[in-house]
Amino acid sequence: MESFEPVLLANIQRPDSHTLAVYEATGGYQTLRRALRELSPAQVVDEVRRSGLRGRGGAGFPTGLKWSFLPADHPGPIYLCVNADESEPGTFCNRVLMELDPHQVLEGTILSAYATRATTAYIYLRYEYPLAYRRLQAAIDEAYAAGYLGRNILGSGFSLDVYIHRGAGAYICGEETGLIESIEGKRAWPRSKPPFPAVEGLFRKPTVVNNVETLACVKHIIERGADWFRSIGVPPSPDDPRDPGSFGPKLFCISGHVNKPGCYEAPLGISCRELIEKFGGGVWKGRRAKAVVPGGLSTGVLSVDELDVPMDFVGPVQKGCLGLGTGGVIVMDETYPMIEFLHNSCRFFAHESCGQCTPCREGTSWALQIVRRIKAGRGRLVDLDLLLEIADNIGIIPGTTICGLADGAAWPIKTAIRKFREELEDYIKRTNPTGYKTRRPVPA
Ligand code: NAI
Ligand code: SF4
Repeated sequence: MESFEPVLLANIQRPDSHTLAVYEATGGYQTLRRALRELSPAQVVDEVRRSGLRGRGGAGFPTGLKWSFLPADHPGPIYLCVNADESEPGTFCNRVLMELDPHQVLEGTILSAYATRATTAYIYLRYEYPLAYRRLQAAIDEAYAAGYLGRNILGSGFSLDVYIHRGAGAYICGEETGLIESIEGKRAWPRSKPPFPAVEGLFRKPTVVNNVETLACVKHIIERGADWFRSIGVPPSPDDPRDPGSFGPKLFCISGHVNKPGCYEAPLGISCRELIEKFGGGVWKGRRAKAVVPGGLSTGVLSVDELDVPMDFVGPVQKGCLGLGTGGVIVMDETYPMIEFLHNSCRFFAHESCGQCTPCREGTSWALQIVRRIKAGRGRLVDLDLLLEIADNIGIIPGTTICGLADGAAWPIKTAIRKFREELEDYIKRTNPTGYKTRRPVPA
């Protein structure tokens, strides 16, 4: 990796980095000041579109394009929802931003609200982040007092109110329409799309939902320009006409069996191996890696011989994973049994399925029962094919469910079995030597 200066994490080492005084001392809110004075909302949208910024929450949808879906002539109100529910296992980059540099998040939020003509923003914050809650609320209070929020911000005529809405611990609240339902005071059941939130979202009004890190990037794009952003990362792949490229810096959370777990910033396109070696300090206890989750549990696993994959929006897909996801890298060392990975993953998704769609509700629950049985030493070799069949038949991609949670449940199963079949078969044979060959049904 060529030399790279952190941008999103540039301030977090400073004492009291979460306060307005420190943020302003490092040039904070100057970009907002300038944008409100010199740029129209359409020019802000245009700069973000030109930058090629893609959503950092997991799906990688182009942010400027998403904003452009808002109806141009809508009389309002338009809402901005900041997705800070961050529940994807292995993911904690939003937490770092909100705890250590909340004003950076707010400045990006205000700029994005200005661009999209939103007059109210809700930050949907996962309940398990109490420090982020206190710091964000304190930052919001400081921003109101300084005239960066409220009516007629900095005399520009633009007004914005920001509220924090705390979740109650459900993963599904991070799905954008589940999040919207939850803010409306209802059970967080995802809605069928279309209509997408940009057309009909919160309180049935046009709504933009963006992840915390995405909004933080907006601040830097407006400050330094789209060309600067495009100078970092990976250009569009010549082999894939649908790839718009993977530009900009990205936060990667490295956890699991490494010497230095943490949140690190690197250009998109850095290799997974370099992330683990250079930032994560290598695999712990002098061991080798066996498997690595590239971007949060939903994305599946890479095997050790796939670690040179570039961590951009295309790389992990080419290795059979769901995508780059959130950039939550989870390292499992050579001693870690893959049956444990399967069990943890299936348990998580069966617990978090909201239950609306039969394939997801039943599929995640049956997959867990099968994996539990294998783990308990009553597995059959045919169970692995049964698990693959379940995984192949649930999710938005085969078109059987409302939201992407079922895809997220399927990919860890598909990748673990396809890449580690031999180990899983050995486990089944070893733990069930008399019954592993049977094809007869075995009670759960
Ligand atoms: P998606 O691809 O359905 O949508 C992405 C965004 O683009 C949404 O905001 C959607 O409204 C917008 N969009 C897509 N097509 C559109 C159209 N035709 N018109 C208007 N807007 C459109 O993906 P989704 O379900 O929002 O996210 C799935 C990803 O979320 C997974 O890849 C997973 O990695 C990630 N995830 C992240 C979590 C976290 O903690 N950050 C938690 C769980 C999952
Ligand atoms: Fe709920 Fe699963 Fe359907 Fe998503 S796919 S709406 S989590 S049942």
